Amino acid sequence: MLSRSALRAVTANARTFSSSASRQTKVAVLGAGGGIGQPLSLLLKTNPLVTSLSLYDIRGAPGVAADVSHVDSHSEVTGYPADKLDEALEGVKVVVIPAGVPRKPGMTRDDLFNTNASIVRDLAAAVGRVAPDAHILVISNPVNSTVPIVAATLEKAGVFNPKHVFGVTTLDVVRAARFLAGITDSNPNDTIVPVVGGHSGPTIVPLLSQTDKGKSIVGEVYEKLIHRIQFGGDEVVKAKDGAGSATLSMAYAGAKFTDALLRALNGEKGVVTPTFVKSPLFADQGIDFFSSQVELGVDGVEKINTLGPLSAEEQKLLEACLPELKKNIEKGKAFVA
Ligand code: NAI
Repeated sequence: MLSRSALRAVTANARTFSSSASRQTKVAVLGAGGGIGQPLSLLLKTNPLVTSLSLYDIRGAPGVAADVSHVDSHSEVTGYPADKLDEALEGVKVVVIPAGVPRKPGMTRDDLFNTNASIVRDLAAAVGRVAPDAHILVISNPVNSTVPIVAATLEKAGVFNPKHVFGVTTLDVVRAARFLAGITDSNPNDTIVPVVGGHSGPTIVPLLSQTDKGKSIVGEVYEKLIHRIQFGGDEVVKAKDGAGSATLSMAYAGAKFTDALLRALNGEKGVVTPTFVKSPLFADQGIDFFSSQVELGVDGVEKINTLGPLSAEEQKLLEACLPELKKNIEKGKAFVA
């Protein structure tokens, strides 16, 4: 007969087994061989909510998969070469897309459009064909245009679910918390800033007035902080001097957003984070994608929060964001049409 403590251990194991068995979450990374894709794949390998990891790239994914697969977490990792995209997508619940070219010094994210638009369109078409219910997390820039491209591609295929398509703007949120913490001598966990709008220069709208540490920042310090959050990516592009843009901090941000979504898909309540989604907030102005605080749930987007009270400065930032964002969205839609 089992002792009371042994019985407790068996019951706990059974509970762990049944809950993990109900959470069969296969995650795919498309562009897994790249600067973002490699560390992102590693971070996802360490996430206990990922049960299976499918790594795809036109170059190098099997090697990355073999390497990452030796990390001692329970998930299985498989790498797929260029001609095995459909196999890579079979049964996936979440697809993260960092495929495409990054910026070089002097380039804007929009300069990447010509190359990345078709990469993202073709990958989205494959997801629509093989895993139409998957949640798609778009990292490839320009996010303001690539998300509408994914949506329009899925719409064409008759499988667009607006609750399942996300532009990953988390790096802006990560930077805002880090930079604000730096000037207020605080812990970034205490300086979380909602960042809304889009993901490029003036379309990035940090709402410092909605945070305890940020609301007292004014004048030149405020202007500089806003500029640094909006153009933080340029610091990395310049420092890398032609070798690309943010990869490590982006992998961290991508893993953070994926983890938030997986927790919500697994039933955790109250998971709220900014993300660029199909949104009603400014749809009356012809802007039907927007990033605001979004509550995630078991089926992806659960509730899109409004912006809340804005300061006069933030109102101005928003006014600068909207026309630019509108252009970026229309460019993405026109590409698919
Ligand atoms: P990278 O050039 O190091 O890696 C891109 C990878 O995509 C390469 O391994 C390449 O082989 C692969 N690829 C190209 N075409 C493909 C296809 N059709 N299917 C599958 N894989 C394909 O670039 P990096 O630095 O990893 O950046 C990737 C993207 O992420 C860029 O567009 C960059 O602008 C964007 N980015 C987005 C950020 C965000 O906050 N959302 C932040 C930083 C970068």
